[in-house]
Amino acid sequence: MLRTHTCGELRLSDVNKTVILSGWVQRIRDKGGLIWIDLRDRYGITQLLLEEGRTGAQLIENARKLGREYVIKVTGKVIERVSKNPKMDTGDIEIDMESIEVLNESKIPPFTIEDDTDGGEELRMKYRYLDLRRNPLKNNLLLRHKLSLETRKYLDSQNFVEVETPYLIKSTPEGARDFVVPSRMNPGEFYALPQSPQTFKQLLMVAGYDRYYQLVKCFRDEDLRADRQPEFTQIDCEMSFVEQEDVLNTFEGLIKYLFKEIKGIEIEDLPRMSFDEAMQKYGSDKPDIRFGMEFTELNDVAQNKGFRVFDDAELVVGINAPGCAGYTRKQLDKLTDFVKRPQVGAKGLVYVKYNEDGSFKSSVDKFFNADDLKNWADKFGARPGDLMLVLSGEKDSVRKQLNELRLEMGERLGLRNPSDYKPLWVVDFPLLEWDEETRRYHAMHHPFTSPKPEDTGRLESDPGSVRANAYDLVINGVEIGGGSIRIHDRELQKQMFKALGFTEEEAQNQFGFLMNAFEYGAPPHGGIALGFDRLAALFAGQDSIRDFIAFPKNNNGRDVMIDSPSEISKEQLDELGLKVVPVKK
Ligand code: AMO
Repeated sequence: MLRTHTCGELRLSDVNKTVILSGWVQRIRDKGGLIWIDLRDRYGITQLLLEEGRTGAQLIENARKLGREYVIKVTGKVIERVSKNPKMDTGDIEIDMESIEVLNESKIPPFTIEDDTDGGEELRMKYRYLDLRRNPLKNNLLLRHKLSLETRKYLDSQNFVEVETPYLIKSTPEGARDFVVPSRMNPGEFYALPQSPQTFKQLLMVAGYDRYYQLVKCFRDEDLRADRQPEFTQIDCEMSFVEQEDVLNTFEGLIKYLFKEIKGIEIEDLPRMSFDEAMQKYGSDKPDIRFGMEFTELNDVAQNKGFRVFDDAELVVGINAPGCAGYTRKQLDKLTDFVKRPQVGAKGLVYVKYNEDGSFKSSVDKFFNADDLKNWADKFGARPGDLMLVLSGEKDSVRKQLNELRLEMGERLGLRNPSDYKPLWVVDFPLLEWDEETRRYHAMHHPFTSPKPEDTGRLESDPGSVRANAYDLVINGVEIGGGSIRIHDRELQKQMFKALGFTEEEAQNQFGFLMNAFEYGAPPHGGIALGFDRLAALFAGQDSIRDFIAFPKNNNGRDVMIDSPSEISKEQLDELGLKVVPVKK
C-alpha cells in the first residue's frame, strides 16, 4: 500500500494512528537533534518528525540523504505537535517517523517550488510540470475545474445538451486568422481549426437540438496579450425559439449561479448599456463600471475661446478625478507622459485643478478665466479638491485615449478592486464596422448576426447605421462573452453578405452549407460564447489567463516545454505534398 491518507488530511482526531503517506519532499530542516520534513501532495503538506535518540539511527541517516522533490513513502504515528501551526490545515499534528522508502529521486529543481518562487517566467514555462506543483497554479486549475463542473450543472438544469463539434473543419467567420492543417489524403488541401463552433452550433439548431452547449477549444492565430491565447476555451451555447431577452436572462442566470456557488457572492441584476452609451460615457465597449468617473463632453463650454487645439477638435471631453487637485507638477507630467505613450496616442493633456479654496489652476489659464473654468466644473459636477483632465481630438480616437486615462486613474485611486464584481450587458452593437484598410464593411460580430428589424431597411442605403441584435457580457472592464440573435432567413442572409461585399459565389463557396441548411426549416435562434479562461482568471481576480491554462503558449505563440511549433521531417512534408520556402525572420 502506498498511502492510507493524503498529506492534507490528518487532524488531532487522528493522533495515535499509524499511517502511510506518500508525496514530494518540500523542505527539510535539520537542527541537529531534530529533523523536520515537509511532505507535500496535491492536498496539502504534512510535517514529518525525526528525533535523535528516539528515531532509529539508520532512519535518520536515510532521511539526511533526501533532497527536495524526492518522492517518498513514509510510515509513522500521528502525534500532537508541541508548537502548532494554525496556518496549516494539518498544523496540529506531525508524523513520528518509523520508516521511509524513496520511491523516486529528483534532480535539484531549476527553481524553488514555493508560493513565491525564484524562477523567471521563461524557466517556469519550460518546466511547467514543476510550476504546476506550486500552490498558486494548483489553486487556479482547481478553480477552473470547479467552474466547469458548476457550468455544466447549471446548463444541464436548463435542458442544455453538450454536443461535441469537429476540430478539423473549414474556415469560420470570427475574423481572426485560421490555423490550418494539411490533408494527406487530399493533397494541396487544408482543414482549418475552428475559431469557434459557430456554424456547427447553428446547424445543431436546424437539427432540432434546441439548447446546445459545449466547453470547447477554439483556435485563433492572432497577436497574443494577457487575455488572449492562440488556443483557448469557450463555454459555447446556442438556443432555438428565443429572442435576445431569453438569451440574456439565461446567461445572467449562469453568471449569478457561478458567483454564488463558487465565490458566495450575490450578484444583482445586470444593468444593460447600449454600445453608443458605453462609447460616450466610457470610451469603451467594455466599460469597467466598478467606479464612476464618466466622461463629460465640453465642446459647448470649451470651444470658441481662442484655444486652437480645442477649437479644431471634433470632441473636447474629460474626466473628473475626485480629490486629486493636490497633484504635483511631477504627477501631472507623469499623466501627460502616460497619455502621450504610443499605445495611448494623445498629443497632450489639459488639466484643471479645482482648489480647495474654490480657485482654479489650469494648464490653459491663458485661454480660460475663472468663470470659464467654473462652467467646466459645473458640467463635470466637480467639487473643490478635484482635478479635471481633458483631452480633445477626433471623436473615436479621443474617446479611446480618455478610456485609457480613466482606467489608469481608477487604478491609481484604488477604485478597481479585483474582488469587487460589476457585470453588465452591452447591447445594440452596430452590425457593421467600416475598415479603412480594405475600404469595406466587416461584420462587427460575425456575418450571421441579425440586424434589428427596425434598422433592416437601411442595410443598403446606410449600412453603418444599422444596429445588431448582438450583446456582450462585460465584467470589470473585461469582455467575458459575446453573442447574437442569428439570421435564419435566407434572403436576409443574402442581403447581409452583399453588404459585406461578398459576391454570391464567394458566399456560396464559404458558407453555402449553412445557407443550404437554412432552406430546411431553420428555427429562430441565437446564442452566446463566454471566454472560459477569462472567466477563471476573473474569478481569481487576475488579468492574465495564462496561469489558468495548464499548458499555455508564451507571447510568441510557442510552447517552450515541448518546443513547438517545430519543423517536420522531409518525409512528412513529401507525404503531405508540401514544400517549405524559407522566410527571412
Ligand atoms: P467571440 O469571438 O466574441 O464570439 O468570442 C467569445 C469570447 O471568447 C473569448 N475569447 C478569447 N479568450 C482567450 N483568448 C482568445 N484569443 C480569445 N478570443 C475570444 C472572449 C470572447 O468574449 N461564435 C461567437 C459567439 C456567438 O456569437 O455565440 C464567438 O466566438 O471572452
